[in-house]
Amino acid sequence: MTDEAIVLNVVVLAAGMGKRMRSDLPKVMHPVAGRPMLAHVFETARALGARLGRGGVNLVGVYGHGGRLVPDAFVAPDLQWAEQMPQRGTGHAVMQAAPRLLAHVPTLILYGDVPLTTVDTLERLVRSVIDSQRRFGLLTVELADPTGYGRVVRGATPGGPVQRIVEQRDASSAEQLIREVNTGVMVIPTPDLRRWLDALSDDNAQAEYYLTDIVGMAVADGLEVVTAQPTHAWETLGVNSRAQLAELERVYQRGLADALMERGAHLLDPARIDVRGELTVGRDVCIDVGCVFEGQVTLGDRVRIGPYCVLRDVMIREGAEIAAYSHLEGASVGANARVGPYARLRPGAELGPRVHIGNFVEVKNSSFGADAKANHLAYVGDSTVGERVNIGAGTITCNYDGANKHRTVIEDDVFIGSNSELVAPVRVGRGATLGAGTTLTKDAPPGALVITRAQARTLSDWVRPAKNPKTPKA
Ligand code: UD1
Ligand code: CA
Repeated sequence: MTDEAIVLNVVVLAAGMGKRMRSDLPKVMHPVAGRPMLAHVFETARALGARLGRGGVNLVGVYGHGGRLVPDAFVAPDLQWAEQMPQRGTGHAVMQAAPRLLAHVPTLILYGDVPLTTVDTLERLVRSVIDSQRRFGLLTVELADPTGYGRVVRGATPGGPVQRIVEQRDASSAEQLIREVNTGVMVIPTPDLRRWLDALSDDNAQAEYYLTDIVGMAVADGLEVVTAQPTHAWETLGVNSRAQLAELERVYQRGLADALMERGAHLLDPARIDVRGELTVGRDVCIDVGCVFEGQVTLGDRVRIGPYCVLRDVMIREGAEIAAYSHLEGASVGANARVGPYARLRPGAELGPRVHIGNFVEVKNSSFGADAKANHLAYVGDSTVGERVNIGAGTITCNYDGANKHRTVIEDDVFIGSNSELVAPVRVGRGATLGAGTTLTKDAPPGALVITRAQARTLSDWVRPAKNPKTPKA
């Protein structure tokens, strides 16, 4: 993409150490909905670029604490990294990014540890300033308890023009009463930003270079400071501790749950669902409590998911039911099939329509034709199972000889008796029957009964051993 097409610089501050997380992992790498907080921020920035039209955004990440770990986790053509070492404040962080900014577009500042700001809110803020080089955009929020935040000082008239931002530790007792705070999100004309950064000093209570000091400089230079507020209060929540991370996770999940319900899903409890990826639902899908959805999951119309299921990268077609405590990964389930309770579908499991997979059945890299059943306690791996096949309880496909895996083919209408072993490579011909307890080591011809079973012997005069009489203690 050419620089001319770029609409915005976005600087993402991610150098801080996050001491209160008490973690070896840099704070911005901690996950929300299964992805690092920083991934959410980059995604939002890119989505904003797409909304604003034309080209994308010029992303600049500022890293420091945790070394290369953070930049190495995010490599992309639209993303540059600047190192900040040591960390001497938010203004100092933006100084490191300044050489990588394009002068002809404004610069948006985001924090890597504030992952839930929405594209809608950022778009509103950016659009309120983007057409003028004389405007400075500031996202502010009114808090019941503003302790710890930078206060937005508007002078004598309430709601009057912004004059400056004062940090908590530098604020007078009167300023500390101000409840409108700086969220940290700003949009700044880039040539001015460079100039103001050069003028910052660290003469304050924390001996840091405060980015917030540029607000006063903008006012002194005659720029208009335009403020906007987030659509939802939770959008500007930052993460400083594990408790805040957990709180944010629930906020995010609740948002996803609401969206699922809007699309027609029935969630038995929207507070007890976790989506860590993308969940696509049809109409009248029903999801019971405690389920976890990871990666790309698609649920067709009328699919029912029982309680405490884990589904990762799966496709469930219409009318299928996944009963309680089932674990599915990399699998597809046909229309009106029934899986579980307590079933495990591993990668490459492909079930046709109306297939039944019951409790304690494990299926890996195997296809089941329409109406096939394995209702209890079985392992089916590396197999092709035909239509209407019935696999009895305790059946095992022995697909691994200790060195290589081999395939088992079970043709249509086969009946496998309970507790059979099929030693691959082996084929069971169409309509064949295996008697219970068979160990099949060579192909079964179509239609035949194959049975390997030791003959039972009956010893009528046998006597069951009796317990030795107790010897009385001396
Ligand atoms: C900052 C703002 C404050 C605002 C608050 C909102 C300043 C001086 N203060 O305060 O007005 O109300 O955010 O949450 O800007 N970072 C770096 N390098 C540094 C310092 C920070 O990359 O040297 C990053 C942090 O990793 C974090 C973000 O900048 O993502 C904010 O830093 P933090 O120390 O949390 O700022 P606050 O003191 O809370
Ligand atoms: Ca600080």
